[in-house]
Amino acid sequence: MGFFDTEKGVDEYIKMAESYDGAELIKILQEFVPENSTVLELGMGPGKDLDILSETFTLTGSDYSQIFLDRYKKQNPNADLLKLDAVTILTDRTFDCIYSNKVLHHITREDLNRSFQRQKEILNSNGIAFHSFWREDKDENYDGLLFTKYQIDGLKKIIGDNFDILSMSIYTEIEKDDSIYVVLRK
Ligand SMILES: C[S@@+](CC[C@H](N)C(=O)[O-])C[C@H]1O[C@@H](n2cnc3c(N)ncnc32)[C@H](O)[C@@H]1O
Repeated sequence: MGFFDTEKGVDEYIKMAESYDGAELIKILQEFVPENSTVLELGMGPGKDLDILSETFTLTGSDYSQIFLDRYKKQNPNADLLKLDAVTILTDRTFDCIYSNKVLHHITREDLNRSFQRQKEILNSNGIAFHSFWREDKDENYDGLLFTKYQIDGLKKIIGDNFDILSMSIYTEIEKDDSIYVVLRK
């Protein structure tokens, strides 16, 4: 059983992330993706970013944790939600954009490459993928939860020729320059 498959893990995460959301990243996303475009969020967690994204775009939320999905659905019965693993993304739907904020570091580098290949398949033509990562040299494992950390060059290698890189920048979430975001075009 994974960290996010228990009420305890989910509660612990929500407490830890209380004062963070992706508002600043979503402003950047809006420069690349027109209003009302369809957006799939991978790893929506408690849905803070989903709420902000929904103000501009047509949102589908997803997570591999049923607990997060059930909790959000209870508060938002009309939300369009899918139970998806960010690696396999098993859906027959397609989207104009795929967004995640601090999710894809929970998978291995190999699986990140698989995820990018799958994202490409379910993006509409010229579709945009937007993702954020922790930036550091050393991977970590916290209570069975993997934190794969990246530098710009390592990330570029994994993106390879799956996408055109429209923008890739270092930013600060908690400690100076601790994060990277990428904007990719199919
Ligand atoms: C940092 S939280 C995301 C928070 C979210 N951006 C928000 O606005 O609150 C990470 C989320 O990724 C999910 N997650 C981790 N690995 C995943 C995977 N392989 N597939 C799908 N979701 C995953 C976790 O269940 C958790 O909800």
